[in-house]
Amino acid sequence: MARTVYLDGEYLPETEAKVSIFDRGFVMGDGVYEVTSVLGGKLLDFAAHMTRLTRSLNELQMTNPLTEAQYLDAHRKLVELNDIDEGMVYLQVTRGNPGDRDFAFPPDDTPATVVMFTQSKPGLADNPQAKIGIKVISIPDLRWHRRDIKTVQLLYPSLAKMEAKHRGVDDAWFVEDGLVTEGTSNNTYIVKGGKIITRALSNDILHGITRASLLRFAREAQLQIEERSFSIAEAQAADEAFFTSASAFVMPVVEVDGVKVGTGTPGPVATRLREIYLDESRKAAV
Ligand code: PDD
Repeated sequence: MARTVYLDGEYLPETEAKVSIFDRGFVMGDGVYEVTSVLGGKLLDFAAHMTRLTRSLNELQMTNPLTEAQYLDAHRKLVELNDIDEGMVYLQVTRGNPGDRDFAFPPDDTPATVVMFTQSKPGLADNPQAKIGIKVISIPDLRWHRRDIKTVQLLYPSLAKMEAKHRGVDDAWFVEDGLVTEGTSNNTYIVKGGKIITRALSNDILHGITRASLLRFAREAQLQIEERSFSIAEAQAADEAFFTSASAFVMPVVEVDGVKVGTGTPGPVATRLREIYLDESRKAAV
């Protein structure tokens, strides 16, 4: 059955949703996006995703074309129409269609293009991978220096993901000046002596929504947190490692560049944090 997707105010079968070849998102990668998880048919961390969307748009001098209430309504409608129990809603806003290709921004009154679609992922919360853990390799971080803006320019993360696959592992961690920035599509953490260590927020990394919620839950559970950068060698010598994202929640990392982390199995802190994150987020889901 074809999905129903959202395009500029309309709900359409996916085969009928068409965007211009001149759309700035298509020719310039000029757009931003959000991915919101769905569990039990409800949206996780929705308000925070909307706050980050507005921030990303503002950083690119775009006005948010819809209100939070309109986005919420559309997200809920798509979840319902596509019968999503567990999965994601993808949302993309581009600078629209100027009718030609030009590096300069189109006039301010050019309507943005707004696209939303669902991805059904049954078993997302119970992902068996979380019980085994994930292996990563390190790759130089060659992305631009505004990684805090969630743009659709994902070519380098895609190349890194493919390099990881070719080398027989699941994902890659980016390294800059000898320190881990983040994963291809996630924020990274290590655990040493019971302390959770994760890079501090700056323009060098995406300000993860899952990261923000997780750190709040971890503080509430009296866990110790240190926001600072770490190297691959420190990750390899850590007791545990893990990453967070809206699509993977909390995912244990058991091997970094061929070296086992801790026992080489998901550790107790990552496992507990995954449970806490899922429990608390489900309670707050809308
Ligand atoms: N990726 N860092 C990067 C580079 C990301 O692309 C993502 C999310 C994160 C985690 O952010 P959050 O917790 O808000 O999902 C960190 C999404 C899931 C994606 O591209 O599919």
